[in-house]
Amino acid sequence: MSQITPRPSLRKISSYIPGKSIESVRREFGLKEVIKLASNENPLGASPKAISVYRKASKDCFLYPEGSSPELRKALAKFHKAPQESILIGNGSDEIIRLFCEAFLDENQEALTSQYAFIRFRQQSMMMGARIIEVPMKNWKLDLEAMAGALSERTRLIFIPNPNNPTGTYNSQKELEKFIRHLPPAAILILDEAYYHYARLEKDYPDSIPLWALRLPNVAVLRTFSKAYGLAGLRVGYVVSNPEIVGWLDRIRMPFNVSLPAQRTCIAALQDARFVSKGVSLNLKEKMFLEKAFSRLGFEVVSSACNFIFAKSPIPGKELFQKLLKRGIIIRPLDEYGLPFYVRTSIGRRPDHLKLLRSLESILK
Ligand SMILES: Cc1ncc(COP(=O)(O)O)c(C=O)c1O
Repeated sequence: MSQITPRPSLRKISSYIPGKSIESVRREFGLKEVIKLASNENPLGASPKAISVYRKASKDCFLYPEGSSPELRKALAKFHKAPQESILIGNGSDEIIRLFCEAFLDENQEALTSQYAFIRFRQQSMMMGARIIEVPMKNWKLDLEAMAGALSERTRLIFIPNPNNPTGTYNSQKELEKFIRHLPPAAILILDEAYYHYARLEKDYPDSIPLWALRLPNVAVLRTFSKAYGLAGLRVGYVVSNPEIVGWLDRIRMPFNVSLPAQRTCIAALQDARFVSKGVSLNLKEKMFLEKAFSRLGFEVVSSACNFIFAKSPIPGKELFQKLLKRGIIIRPLDEYGLPFYVRTSIGRRPDHLKLLRSLESILK
């Protein structure tokens, strides 16, 4: 037996289970054609303008990037009408979730979130030895009233994914305004808005950066280039918050956390609003199509404000996942969330959906 001992808090967490990759399914099942609807990636790929910048920038890959991504921060500052010091760029918003935990959580302190909230909040908070409080959901939505009741003098971070992955539900501006009235001054509210571009079609969805992140001392908003911008593989996300909070995160950020091609490509992606709205419109159309088709097949579909469908399956989620894998379709079972009958399916393009529906019909008949 080895004498190696990790920090005790590491024994309580397990590795993140990502969506299965196309390559691994090709290898495992000897399939040529594989459809991935498991990680909420953009079915349109990335903006051609952004890809062209990426190609040009790739010739500079021998250079270290500028560590704090100043040009991208400048572009985002202009985009959000925010001071540059209130923005930090991360290696995906995932890195920023981790930075928040490393900077602000310790043993005997608490992070507050919801049952079935994006699983990274729990893993990263527990890594720091902090206690994670997960307040039960109400109708698959975060119950912000109950969460306000769970705040304590030990609360340091509050994670509100809006909308949430995997449930796809969101909380309204009014609900959040009420919650924010209870926000203790020593706690930071982190609004994780990975699916912002899809959710903003909802009338009562808040424009949280001008409303709160730029006005209040302890609210942070996370956004990502992985979804509507179609750049998940580049790993870029950002936070907008009070410069004091951003400053603490910056102290512990890896020195060169975002590559130079990634920084430049995101600037181009940010400027291609047409690409984003094309993807959002396609998503809306395909979401309505899939929600109806899933319901017809006996799934209980929860209304989604995202680019994925969350639904109760007529058979255990893992069984459905395995059967679809053999047919070259990857979806996401949700056992790791304690939801063995639920699945999450990313919204893609119509031909992929037709193939998925044909397979579901034959599996469930
Ligand atoms: C709610 C939520 N937050 C954060 C992330 C992480 O995104 P990224 O690290 O790609 O920016 C995801 C990814 O799926 C997500 O669903």
